[in-house]
Amino acid sequence: MRSEFHTKLLDKLVDVGEPAFNMAHEKLLDMVINADVILGSAVSENRSLSTEEWNNLANIFDELISYAKIHFSEEMDHLRAHGYPNVEQHQVDHDALVDELNHFQRKVMENDDANVRDIRKWLLAWLLNHVNYKDLEYAQYFASKKAPS
Ligand SMILES: [Fe+2]
Ligand SMILES: [Fe+2]
Repeated sequence: MRSEFHTKLLDKLVDVGEPAFNMAHEKLLDMVINADVILGSAVSENRSLSTEEWNNLANIFDELISYAKIHFSEEMDHLRAHGYPNVEQHQVDHDALVDELNHFQRKVMENDDANVRDIRKWLLAWLLNHVNYKDLEYAQYFASKKAPS
């Protein structure tokens, strides 16, 4: 069962005005939460992750990165097709996130026990920070274009 903390994270995701993208954000956050359950239990019990936990985490990261790349590219196609003025900056933001995902994936592949807290902290922050600020900007832009003037 999902903890109250994790349920609250899902509640925090903003509506970006496109049901398919909202669903993709929820799915990504679901993967983040599954990874956080593994990291969180080691942190709260003050112990290292087992090999099995590292392997499970690596599998979640694989899926998370593949799915994030698909979502980012669908989002960019949509923003370009609808003439979003900040589209190039949005691409830069996505590229930076993919770099960070790859960086933390390497830490997971190395079973880097020293950085479990950093991996966890970053993992919990990146998606909400992007969706709730950067994706929200395009949502507000398109909403203002639709509104009768
Ligand atoms: Fe998004
Ligand atoms: Fe985005």
